[in-house]
This record gives sequence, structure tokens and C-alpha cells, in this order.
Amino acid sequence: MVDLRVDLGGLVVCNPIMPASGTFSEGLEQVVDFNQLGAFVTKTVTRERRGGNPTPRVAETSSGMINSIGIPSDGIPYFIDHTLPFYRRFATPLVVSISAPSIEGFASLAADLSRDGVAAIEANISCPNLEEDGRAFAMSARATEAVVRRLRDATALPLWVKLTPNVGEIADIARAAESAGADVLTVANTILAMAIDTETFLPRVGNVMGGLSGPAIKPIIVRQVFQCARAVRIPIIGCGGIMNATDAIEYLLAGASAVQVGTATFVHPAALTTIIDDLTAFLVRRGIERVGALVGAVRLTSPEPVETLVAAS
Ligand SMILES: Cc1cc2nc3c(=O)[nH]c(=O)nc-3n(C[C@H](O)[C@H](O)[C@H](O)COP(=O)(O)O)c2cc1C
Repeated sequence: MVDLRVDLGGLVVCNPIMPASGTFSEGLEQVVDFNQLGAFVTKTVTRERRGGNPTPRVAETSSGMINSIGIPSDGIPYFIDHTLPFYRRFATPLVVSISAPSIEGFASLAADLSRDGVAAIEANISCPNLEEDGRAFAMSARATEAVVRRLRDATALPLWVKLTPNVGEIADIARAAESAGADVLTVANTILAMAIDTETFLPRVGNVMGGLSGPAIKPIIVRQVFQCARAVRIPIIGCGGIMNATDAIEYLLAGASAVQVGTATFVHPAALTTIIDDLTAFLVRRGIERVGALVGAVRLTSPEPVETLVAAS
């Protein structure tokens, strides 16, 4: 009845709802009908096997959680031999999230993963650039431009670039990624945060600082999606604190063409499919035929005459 399809840089997905990298895994097929999802997004994969950060790796905070998982990875051979065949069983397109400490590392990973069964690459550039100052690529427009340009040469697949929210002017980074050839921007990764246990005086995650996710970050990331949507022409995927369909709709109104859902899945394992159902019900109830009609539809001027607003305040 309603058309939920969206075009994400040449990859047309059947609906705009998908998991956020690192918050979704193979076992979830017990509770979620994988074929209903707009796409799969894998946990970030690195070339080598990597352990994670020291424990504890997760701490709950008010309206959110801090994680310092640290991208543990089984490496590329395992990914190709085990993870890819698992996802090939489903009709849902597979987006592979990649990370590397150098530009060439990113490019060679993208080239090696541009193979059958992979529908798009999501470059997680919120990782340290070890060839320069160790700051995340996505913290500088110049480093973003350099890594995305090289990635663009390395793969013909749709190239999604995931930004960090830990910057002053995210629109500048978005423009740099677009001009270097990104097809889609994912906005955004977690917000750098810290929590301290007042009994032990120890940081609550083993790596001292970690990434804040969940409802606590949603208004900040909605603002960044809005800013990015005004700065670039390529589609944006909103990600941060989406717990239900209303949150997803808010992101679409701010300018996102699709959304990724992370922390909500830890709270309600079937959150993704509930959001798809409730988004569909919203569109039917409002008589909106295409989900695309919501994208960027925020109204910045009130339909009410100013005098009415003043009288009501
Ligand atoms: C436990 C955990 C692991 C994550 N791992 C990754 C990862 O491997 N790659 C990545 O790009 N983002 C990773 N993220 C960030 C999420 O993909 C997402 O950007 C962030 O959590 C904000 O969305 P949310 O508030 O819906 O969780 C992780 C988040 C959490 C909570």
C-alpha cells in the first residue's frame, strides 16, 4: 500500500530501516525476520584479527550506554569464509563496514571486499589515522577527503562513509566526503564520553573513555543530520538513539533518507521489525504514499500566524 523503497547511492533498499554496525549479529535471526530488513550492516571488519579493548567494555548511563568495544575482528579470511556465506542465504543486501589505520589499508580492504554478495561498503572512518596524528580520519576534512578519494578508486560498489559526531563543523566533513566521491553518508558514530564509578573512583569502561549511544545522543545527531542534509546532495543515513518509529520519522524529517538502529536492539531484540511495521502504519494513517515524501520535510516556519503563537506563549 505504501512505497517504503529508498535509493541509497545506487542501492535500492526495500525499506529505510537497517541495523547499525556492531549492534547486530548472526544469532539475531532467531528473533528478527532478516528478509524484512532494508539492509544488513556488518560489524566493522579489519584486515587482521584484533582483540578488543580491556573490560569492562560497556557501561549503562542515563538514557544511553558507553561502549569501548574497540573493534575486535576475526579478520578478512574468516569474514570471507564464514560471515559472507551466512548472509548470502538472505535476500537482504549486505553492507560491509570496514576500518583500517591507513589510507592504503582502507583501499585494499574495499578492493578485496568488492565481491559477489556484497552490495555496498560502509567506511567507518571514525578510527585513528596512524600515518598522521592518530586522530580519527573523520575529524578532519582533509583526511576525510584523502581516504574517501582513494576508496572511490578502489571500489565500484556504492560507497557509504560513516562520520563521527565528535567534530565542530560536521557539514565541512560531509562536503569533503561528498566531493571525494562518497555515495551516501552515515551520520553518525558514537559521541566520545566518560563515566566514573564513585565507589571505586575508576572509569566505568576499561579504556577510560568510550562512545555514548542511545536516546541521550538523539537530539545532537538529528541536528547533525539536518546540517549535513543542507550541505550535500547525496543521501544521508541517520543513526543515533532511534528506539521506535517516531524517532526514525524525526530523522527522516531532518533530512535522512534511511536510518540505522543500534542500541535499541540490545533493549528490544525485535526493535528493527517493530519500527518497520510502525513506520508503515504511520504512513497509512497519514495517507502518505511514499516514505521518500518525509525526507527533509521538516517545516521551519509555523503555519500558524505569528500573533497566535505569541498569544499562546
Ligand atoms: C556495542 C556497540 C558496538 C559498536 N560497534 C561499531 C562498529 O563496529 N562499527 C561502527 O561503525 N559503529 C559501531 N558502533 C556504533 C553504532 O553503529 C552507532 O553508530 C551508534 O551506536 C549510535 O546508534 P544507536 O544510538 O542507535 O546505538 C557500535 C555501537 C555499540 C553500542
